[in-house]
Amino acid sequence: MKIFSPHLLVFFFLFIVVRSSPEYTRPDPRPLILRQHDRSDSDPQQVHISLAGKDYMRVSWITSDKKVESKVEYGKTTGKYDASATGESTSYRYFFYKSGKIHHVKIGPLEHNTTYYYMCGGYGPEFTLRTPPSAFPVEFTVAGDLGQTEWTESTLTHIGAKDYDVLLLPGDLSYADLHQPLWDSFGRLVQPYTSTRPWMVTQGNHEVETFPIIYPHGFKAYNARWLMPHQESGSKSNLYYSFDVAGAHIIMLGSYTDFDSNSDQYNWLQADLASVDRTKTPWVFVLIHAPWYNSNLAHRGEGESMRKAMEQILYKARVDVIFAGHVHAYERFTRVYDNKADQCGPVHVTIGDGGNREGLAMLFENPSPSISLYREPSFGHGRLRVFNSTHAQWSWQRNNDSDSVTGDEIWLESLSSSSVCKQPKVSPKSLNDEL
Ligand SMILES: [Fe+2]
Repeated sequence: MKIFSPHLLVFFFLFIVVRSSPEYTRPDPRPLILRQHDRSDSDPQQVHISLAGKDYMRVSWITSDKKVESKVEYGKTTGKYDASATGESTSYRYFFYKSGKIHHVKIGPLEHNTTYYYMCGGYGPEFTLRTPPSAFPVEFTVAGDLGQTEWTESTLTHIGAKDYDVLLLPGDLSYADLHQPLWDSFGRLVQPYTSTRPWMVTQGNHEVETFPIIYPHGFKAYNARWLMPHQESGSKSNLYYSFDVAGAHIIMLGSYTDFDSNSDQYNWLQADLASVDRTKTPWVFVLIHAPWYNSNLAHRGEGESMRKAMEQILYKARVDVIFAGHVHAYERFTRVYDNKADQCGPVHVTIGDGGNREGLAMLFENPSPSISLYREPSFGHGRLRVFNSTHAQWSWQRNNDSDSVTGDEIWLESLSSSSVCKQPKVSPKSLNDEL
């Protein structure tokens, strides 16, 4: 009789890992939530807003009715719209699926830290948004690998229970995985949040959706639905871009498009880093999908080639924090450069635990590497409160069922304020020079 099957060993290992944190029982994945559109074909659905250059926002929504105009009316008083803007629309096919009319309209110039009321296409309900502040303090929510399960809904409820200015998403949104109606369902699930605060996203592997010969380039749904301000930031691709909020410069990189030193993305990143003025934006944050540092047993080494290509220029530019997703757990590293603790390197945070259907990545390597300071396989989200040009507080909020509980919390000091880590004089050329 075979006593030790591989399954038994895995179960035993899991049992030890789970038992190692007796204060919290790890949850199982939860079922999908599928949201239907229950209003007229002309009414807007899947409404989301994003920052679109200085003082502008982009309003994006979908209608089944192709005759609806890409027009947004807006104003600072409910029901009274003294401004309007028209924009563009697109649609796409994916095998037998045909999307609705996808509208993108830029509104502005808008005042900072101001509530606006708006209507999309002249139909449906009024929506409300608030623009970010022009100066500190500013608060970001960070959530990755969301999906559309009951855990996603739990994370979203916790996100919505506290105020914030901008949400940052380091990839893996809908988990549609070629099944296009799931993109629509995801858009409806997040609408209460995406219609009120700007959501700034970058792509994950679940956005790629290539299909041999027929759709070799990928990102068909993602690029059509989640148009980000790449043109406004000098990027030729929706897969990488940057933007400023208050005193923070945020760079969204693409883990699933070319990133080597001859690539468009690399050249754009060099120019973008060289243009950052740390007296105006003392903080620089970067988002990627596949983490460059990861002690979880899931997705090991998947971010390594991108790290090798880009870590040096981000280090020389004194980036403060790099957020990643992909691994369905939370992990925070110390300041790191080239696999070693370095007080002038960025803090690395993996936050791919938004709640998708694949469940948690439970297993970490043991013992923990010395550069990894906190790690836990639980669903949750992060909050980054930037108080001024020198200090910010980062916290990770675990979903304890219906409660949101702070699991990890640290103070960050901006590298631009560090006397030890004086930023080298940065030009596109000097970023490439050997250290
Ligand atoms: Fe992923």
